Amino acid sequence: MLDSIKTYLALKDGPNISCAYSWNSPVFLFSNENIQPYLANLTDMTGKKVLTVAAAGDHAFEALLAGAKHVDTFDINYLQKHIMELKSKMIKHLPYGEFMKFFFDKNHFFDRSIIKPIWKTFSRELRIFLLMYYHHHQHNSRLFRYNGAQHNEYMPDMISYVSDELAFKELKQIMPDKISFKETNVLELSTKFDTEYDVILMSNIFEYLYTDTTDIASRLKVFHANVLTPIAENILSKDGGKACFHYSWNTNVELWNQGLKSFERHTQYSIDNFNETKYSFDAIGVKSICSLAPNGQDAMLYMTQNQR
Ligand SMILES: C[S@@+](CC[C@H](N)C(=O)[O-])C[C@H]1O[C@@H](n2cnc3c(N)ncnc32)[C@H](O)[C@@H]1O
Repeated sequence: MLDSIKTYLALKDGPNISCAYSWNSPVFLFSNENIQPYLANLTDMTGKKVLTVAAAGDHAFEALLAGAKHVDTFDINYLQKHIMELKSKMIKHLPYGEFMKFFFDKNHFFDRSIIKPIWKTFSRELRIFLLMYYHHHQHNSRLFRYNGAQHNEYMPDMISYVSDELAFKELKQIMPDKISFKETNVLELSTKFDTEYDVILMSNIFEYLYTDTTDIASRLKVFHANVLTPIAENILSKDGGKACFHYSWNTNVELWNQGLKSFERHTQYSIDNFNETKYSFDAIGVKSICSLAPNGQDAMLYMTQNQR
């Protein structure tokens, strides 16, 4: 199906609000993770090849700012690709002030006059997405799940290129003309891509998988068997590839690290894998993005492949 038709169908009756995430769910406009510091602590991103959840595009943008040489994206929600394209083209072609006005000034939120000069650079499906918003969803919009601009609980100014005009200008220089996007469930990730990545970013998707298993260690085991292992075997660099698989807000990073080390021992001494250390698990602590916990810490959990 043509993407322009798909976009129209996705929004014809409004976005799908019957479940957490689907192909046409409400979209995120900005990330609610403190991405820049966990990438800085994860690895030297210079020259790295990255696969990331698309979400609002911020994981991809922060990876580029950190030095990644190539970024591909995926998301279960097809509509996120429009947000990523909109923001990437605005960053590439408009000044910082116009970008900020469009997203963060309540009186100019999604102001058409701001994007008019770059309308022709947009793909057909993005134009349809925007027209559907302006004509059908502007006034009773449930289209945005978390819009950044008017959300009290989180502080979107932790995003580098939002809080720092110089970072915005740097991103403008390095922004690719197009960032690839594939609509897929993370459960199928390893079959949907056929190259190896140095870094894979999965945001907090883990939180929404295997939710019937309430015990966190058991959930981690199922997730490791069904998601992390196929990813590690097929699309993660064998040479120290890192997969960030769970962002947790306002949490105890030390406790996570202890739990992960005991989980790591479980993965090492399986019958199939006797004496071979294939993976290590760690948590990175960052300043919490949650304004309700100004002194708290958020954590990003990650797995590293082939630690010696
Ligand atoms: C889990 S959400 C939460 C927001 C996130 N913390 C951020 O900073 O953007 C991030 C993205 O994951 C996508 N997602 C959720 N479940 C998914 C799944 N099973 N497979 C692929 N993408 C998924 C959502 O559509 C959304 O765009």
